[in-house]
This record gives sequence, C-alpha cells and structure tokens, in this order.
Amino acid sequence: MATLYERSLNVLPPVAARATKLGVTEGEGCYLIGEDGERYLDFAAGVAVANCGHNNPQIVAAIEKQLHKLVHGGHNVVYYPAYIELAEKLTARVGKVGEYKVYFSNSGAEANEGAVKLALSVTKRPGIIAFNSSFHGRTLLTASMTASSAAYRKNYEAVLPTVYHVDFPDVYNTTLSADEEIERCLKQLDLLFHNVIVPERVACIVVEPVQGEGGYLPAPAKFLEKLRKICTDNGILLVFDEIQTGFGRTGRLFAKDVYGVQPDIMTLAKGIANGIPLSAVVGKTEYMDQWLPGAHGGTFGGNPLACAAGIEVLKIMDEDFLENVRIIGTYFRQELEKLHQQFPNVISSVRGIGLMNACEFRSVSKEPLTQLVADIREKALAKNLILLNCGVNHNVIRLIPPLVVTKEEINQSIAIIKSSIEQSLEKEAVAK
Ligand SMILES: Cc1ncc(COP(=O)(O)O)c(C=O)c1O
Repeated sequence: MATLYERSLNVLPPVAARATKLGVTEGEGCYLIGEDGERYLDFAAGVAVANCGHNNPQIVAAIEKQLHKLVHGGHNVVYYPAYIELAEKLTARVGKVGEYKVYFSNSGAEANEGAVKLALSVTKRPGIIAFNSSFHGRTLLTASMTASSAAYRKNYEAVLPTVYHVDFPDVYNTTLSADEEIERCLKQLDLLFHNVIVPERVACIVVEPVQGEGGYLPAPAKFLEKLRKICTDNGILLVFDEIQTGFGRTGRLFAKDVYGVQPDIMTLAKGIANGIPLSAVVGKTEYMDQWLPGAHGGTFGGNPLACAAGIEVLKIMDEDFLENVRIIGTYFRQELEKLHQQFPNVISSVRGIGLMNACEFRSVSKEPLTQLVADIREKALAKNLILLNCGVNHNVIRLIPPLVVTKEEINQSIAIIKSSIEQSLEKEAVAK
C-alpha cells in the first residue's frame, strides 16, 4: 500500500517543505504514532505547538464540550463566552488588570501582520525595523521582515519598502565579548537612524526574544533592555514576536518574563491552543483602543473550539507546570553539555532557555556542519526520534519536545542523538 508521502506526490505541491517523509495517524503525549505502527518520540512538537502534549485529554475534553455548543460564531458578528473568557484570562497573565487588550486571529503570520498594522495605524509612521536572521512568517508583510533565508523571499523581493534590518546579537559565533557584540548591533541601529530613517518616522521594532528559525539565539538581556529604552525615548512601539517563545516554552509563560522587559505589543500563536489554529495580538490598552473598527478583522479568528482549547492551556500552565519546565529544561541542557564535551570537534555550542534548546554544529575551523546535521536527523528518525534543524545555515539542531516530557524521555533522546552523531561521523570517516 502506498504511504501517505507517496500519495502526497500526486496531489501536493512541493512548496511546504517538510522536515520528514513520515506519515502519522495519532498523537499521545510526547509521541506520534506512525502509519507504520511505530511510536516516534516527537522532539519537534509540530514546531513548538503541542506544548501540553499531543491530544492532551483535558484539552480534548474541553474542545469536545465546546463542539456540541458552538463551532463558529464569527468574531466580526457576535460575542461568545469562550472568546471573552480567553481574552480575560490571557490579558491577566500578560500584565496588570486593564493594561493590555487582545485581538485573536489564526496564524503566527496573521498575528504579526496585525501587530505591525496596529503600530502603523497608531503611530502614523511608516518605518518598521526587524532583525537579520529573524523569522516572522511568510505572508508578504511578514516575509518583508523575515530575514533568516533568502529562499523565503526569492521571487517575492518586491516586499514592503519601509522594512529595515539590523543585526541581532550572536554571542556564540563571534570573537567579540558579549558587550561588544551588543554594542555592534546597537551601533547599526544608530547608523540606521542617522543615515536612513529618523527614529520619529519609525512605527515599531519587531524582535523575537529568542530567535527561533534563525538558530535558537537567546537575546542578551541587556540588548532587549536597550531596545526597550530606545523605543520609549523615541515613541517607537516595541513588538515582541513570542510566537515560538510563548506558552511555557522558556519555563515562563512568555519569554518577556524571563527578561523582565514589557513590550508594547506581543504576538502569540503556536502553543496558544495546543494545535487548534489560534493566534493573538496582545497590545497595551492605550494603543489597542486607538485601533478603530474596520482597521483589521477576519472570519475565523478566535474560533470557539480554539478559544476553548486556549482556556485549558492556560489552566494547565500554572506555576508548578512552568517550574517543572525550568527544572527539566536545565537537566536537558546539562545532558546536552555532556554531548558537547564528548564531541567538541563538531558541537560548537549548546544553548537555550527552559525547553527551548539547541546544539550548534561547527567544525574546529568554525565552518557550519550542515550536512552532518542532516545526517544526524535522518539517523535519529530511523531510531524513532523526530528532530528539527534551524539556523541560517541549517547547522543547528533544535530540541523542542512537548513540555510534559519526562527525564526518561530526555535520556532516551540523548542516547539516540549520541549514537546518531557517532554513526554520522563514522560514515564521514569512511567517505574520506
Ligand atoms: C517567531 C515566529 N514568528 C512567526 C511565525 C509564523 O507563524 P505561522 O507559521 O503560524 O504563520 C513563526 C513560525 O515558525 C515563528 O517561529
């Protein structure tokens, strides 16, 4: 019988590149069940989405309950309880009572579109600043900001002309000290303001607190603090894209709480409803109240099923849950550090916060080991472990299991990664 992959070749275009050829039929906790009947340890979590575990029974029950009440009302038409309840619960977790309001949409890119439209609309300024190696989505506005691969922009280069890019600090691949690296990036921002666009014409600075696709690079705290100050001093809105960092991934509900820096606008998606499409623009009330009727909208945003799931996600992610993410995340990094020590000639760094971790692969002469990473992922998949890469050179393995992952599952993944590295290095040695 043809596999799902084989059948897909007749009906699906190649455009949505898939990380594997694996067909799956079910999900349970940290596992996906393959069409081959095998159980796969899923350290991709649908790209940081199934944070509460695949088919979390509590969330499934809430969706089922909602299913029998209302499937679609339309947030441009009516109000319904799940939408309002999620808005109340979510804004209460972002700031003080009344400090933020929320607009729901469907995907991460759509939330980023909304956030930037909000900033343009409120400030009446045209400039948008984003960072090199960032990822903000693939719609034309968000592709204008995304700068983690020219492949995402190829043939669409006529993107928004008012988006400007500066470097994001990478303290792992530089001979500069952390402070010097931060200064280097801030200097680029200064030059941009001096040579290209004055700060009074900039609506927003959009930044991922931890760059995701760009290579799992946590921003140095000082960098985000400086951006906050530059924005405040110049009337620029600071937008945190927390689409990948949000919903417990960093061991806090949002990465902003790891850093103690409050954005003016924050975008959320991925883990927000554990797999039901939902995203959100959370903005300071003073700006949200100036976003006038008709300036934004959509048919499906804040669907009742998605909101019911979102309410349950917030119930699950209490302080104990998040503390466990921090504990297990630290354990994972310690185990990854051991791998780093065992393979110092190919692993150049281990980094991350909470359960948003990564290993970068570079040769002794610092060349990115792109093919080695592809080989390791393939070998790990053959041992039933799903891994994703990231980084502008695809030479970083990101490790993003569901946040309910156990120590045993982490040990299992480490053993598989270790033996996959060994096999891949043996293969290279034979090829030489
Ligand atoms: C930081 C970040 N922003 C935006 C997006 C786009 O989200 P979506 O694919 O839901 O449009 C992603 C997706 O990977 C992301 O990681």
